[in-house]
Amino acid sequence: MNIFRSLFITALPLFFIITTTGDLLAGPMMMRHGKGPGIHPHSMGFAGKGICPQPRVMAQAPDDIYHLKNPLQSTQQNQDAGESLYRVDSQPTACKICHGLTGNGFGMMAPGLNPPPRNFSCAESMKEIPDGQLFWVIKNGSHGTGMPAYPELTEKQIWQLVLHLRGLSQ
Ligand code: HEC
Repeated sequence: MNIFRSLFITALPLFFIITTTGDLLAGPMMMRHGKGPGIHPHSMGFAGKGICPQPRVMAQAPDDIYHLKNPLQSTQQNQDAGESLYRVDSQPTACKICHGLTGNGFGMMAPGLNPPPRNFSCAESMKEIPDGQLFWVIKNGSHGTGMPAYPELTEKQIWQLVLHLRGLSQ
């Protein structure tokens, strides 16, 4: 029996070393932008450029909404509001949890989602999507996918979000 006890005692510090090393590695891995997913601490999701261009199969907004242009000016106040909604404030779930802090589509929840979250940092894909389409999907969600509807957001808040999304591909 003693051999098991001593094995356990030897294994214990080893276990701590392994778990601590994991934490220490998370920092440097975060820096590896553009080199495959590294882990961001604090629920930021994964680093990297994301899939670009990204295949996109989506329902299209009704014509009158599809062609809408963002009515908001790109003021500091609107940009800040859009950023807070994207990162923290939007209910039920902040956008970054799926779309990632940088908009690369690699949020914490992204690995479980098929189709994957849109990569907002991909200019090539984003320039094909009009403001009105972004507005409509945020309001109504994308049925049968991970993209939830946001009925609680005001129209102004949704346009502030659209402003933020546009900024992510610049
Ligand atoms: C739980 C995960 C999740 C959250 C939270 C989430 N999304 Fe999405 N989002 C998705 C997925 C998955 C798709 C891809 C849907 C598809 O391909 O039909 C998507 C697609 C989109 C699109 C694509 C529209 C298009 O026509 O290509 C927009 C815009 C969007 N999301 C905005 C947002 C915004 C803004 C928020 C926060 C207010 C948000 N999403 C929160 C998962 C999420």
